[in-house]
Amino acid sequence: MKAARIRAYGDLGGAVVEDVPVPEVGPHEVLIRVVAASINPLDIKLIGGGLDAYFPLAFPYSLGTDLAGTVERAGALAARWRPGDTVIARADPVRGGAFAEFAVVPATRVAAAPAGLPLAVAAGLPTAAGTAWQALFETACLSAGQTVLIHAAAGGVGSAAVQLARCAGARVVATASAANADLVRRLGASHVIDYRTEDFTAMVRDVDVVLDIIGGDTQQHSLRRAAARREAGQHRVAAG
Ligand SMILES: NC(=O)c1ccc[n+]([C@@H]2O[C@H](COP(=O)([O-])OP(=O)(O)OC[C@H]3O[C@@H](n4cnc5c(N)ncnc54)[C@H](OP(=O)(O)O)[C@@H]3O)[C@@H](O)[C@H]2O)c1
Repeated sequence: MKAARIRAYGDLGGAVVEDVPVPEVGPHEVLIRVVAASINPLDIKLIGGGLDAYFPLAFPYSLGTDLAGTVERAGALAARWRPGDTVIARADPVRGGAFAEFAVVPATRVAAAPAGLPLAVAAGLPTAAGTAWQALFETACLSAGQTVLIHAAAGGVGSAAVQLARCAGARVVATASAANADLVRRLGASHVIDYRTEDFTAMVRDVDVVLDIIGGDTQQHSLRRAAARREAGQHRVAAG
């Protein structure tokens, strides 16, 4: 099969498409015929070497983490997946391999592709939506009836977070630039603050959860908005 690989840390320009063997499938793994793959900020950081302390790469390294496709074969202990299932998946970053004709992914990193969404679009979901899910529900334990402040709500992580939070029955207050306000409202935010012209610190009070991917002052001011709620003893507070 063909796979895009690099032989040293660098950038995407160093990638070469090479002929390599189709990877072996372990018992807990799934072999996926890749229909589409997406480039995530994580890929750029990985191949630049910036995440070496967390994800040390071995070379040659097969590029790519996020993909969508059809199951070719499932390992003996991954029988939930059947040949022909349409799936999205996030390869182990250390192993990579999404920018190839076939990819092997641990079964725990595979999910059914959303019905009705073209696989070329669905391939953009795994890391961005997975990050939003982890932050909102695994870290912050967001629940129905709570209010969540989501920064950068028009971005990859933020746009997924708005939809997931809304589906979970939370009230969403979001920040985005004015040009993206309608989009973010359509995704499920009940209130959108233009971070370029408005001061969210004066407009937001008593949120239960903050999802901040901006950092710096935005994070400090956000945590203060949530802290008021915590000090009142009304709700559990966490920041994603
Ligand atoms: N994408 C992922 O899967 C992923 C996973 C883990 C971590 N991250 C990290 O999370 C961060 C964001 O990633 P992303 O992919 O979501 O970015 P993105 O798609 O490039 O979106 C970034 C968004 O940030 C907004 N923004 C910029 N300055 C802002 C401010 N001061 N206040 C509020 N919003 C502001 C912009 O809003 P407007 O367009 O409305 O101006 C833009 O939509 C990056 O540091 C990335 O490395 C990303």
